Amino acid sequence: PGTGTGRATAKTILFGEHAVVYGRPAVAVPITAIPVTALARPVEGPASLRSALYHGRLDRIPERLRPTGAAVSAALDAVGRPSAGVAVEVRSEIPAERGLGSSAAVAAAIVTAVSAAFGRTLSPDERHELIQIAERAAHGRPSGLDARSVVATGPVWFEDGAATTLAVGGPMTFVLADTGVAGRTREAVAAVRALHEERPAHVDALLERLGGLAAQARVALGTGDAEAVGAAMTDAHAALNVLGVGDPALDHLVAAARTGGALGAKLTGGGRGGCIVAVARDADHADDLVAHLRAAGSPAAWSTHLEASR
Ligand code: PMV
Repeated sequence: PGTGTGRATAKTILFGEHAVVYGRPAVAVPITAIPVTALARPVEGPASLRSALYHGRLDRIPERLRPTGAAVSAALDAVGRPSAGVAVEVRSEIPAERGLGSSAAVAAAIVTAVSAAFGRTLSPDERHELIQIAERAAHGRPSGLDARSVVATGPVWFEDGAATTLAVGGPMTFVLADTGVAGRTREAVAAVRALHEERPAHVDALLERLGGLAAQARVALGTGDAEAVGAAMTDAHAALNVLGVGDPALDHLVAAARTGGALGAKLTGGGRGGCIVAVARDADHADDLVAHLRAAGSPAAWSTHLEASR
């Protein structure tokens, strides 16, 4: 045993959030420019965690960081050392509660680092299961989309619990902008479930539309048709609003993206706050769009670029 390291990144869901919980397909992109790293070292004393949010014993971790603690415990169980001491250090550049996959990415980095510290290399499916244990502590019945996307190296098509790499037919640049309002994934997922029970036909039609937009976007990404991807995003944003996961702050930034010349924009992730994602015309326009969205009140904005895969 020695020091183990783990790495994961932020992600943005381009299509299919919420619908994916009901078995519809989704498209997500890892944001490699926003990383998380974890270091784990076996120690004599009790397990401990050091991060920007907490420094102390694992068994005294505050309730809101329970998913992080669950990731450490799940990895110790997986290596057959449930009561071993381990000192875990997490460094994350992903803002939390922004729909950027912070919880899944932190869990991914931790389970990789802890298992490596005890001499084990996890298979992708083993790693996925451990991330999902932490994600369940975060929000009930996670689809697994975040867990797959934060360890991906390119755009992901997610369907039936499995992720495959999507072909990209031409360069495409996305801009993310934070509303500054904390996203509320758990609450939004519960609200969709309640609405689904109350008005099943209405909600099923929306979920079908969102799944159909993901399928359309898959084709448009494959041909490098940024305009079609953008149009599908604008349509998805409207459907997500009807589903009840929108927020005025999200609508404000989606409208600002449009006046800034974006080809389309929508909320991304759980919603009710968090971030929007927009399609830029090209890499230069993405810089202008970031500035435009910051001027419209977004406290943080980033761009992420996809190159054609062949
Ligand atoms: O808010 P985030 O980044 O955790 O994304 C949640 C995505 C949902 O589809 C709303 C939930 C899920 O489990 O896929």
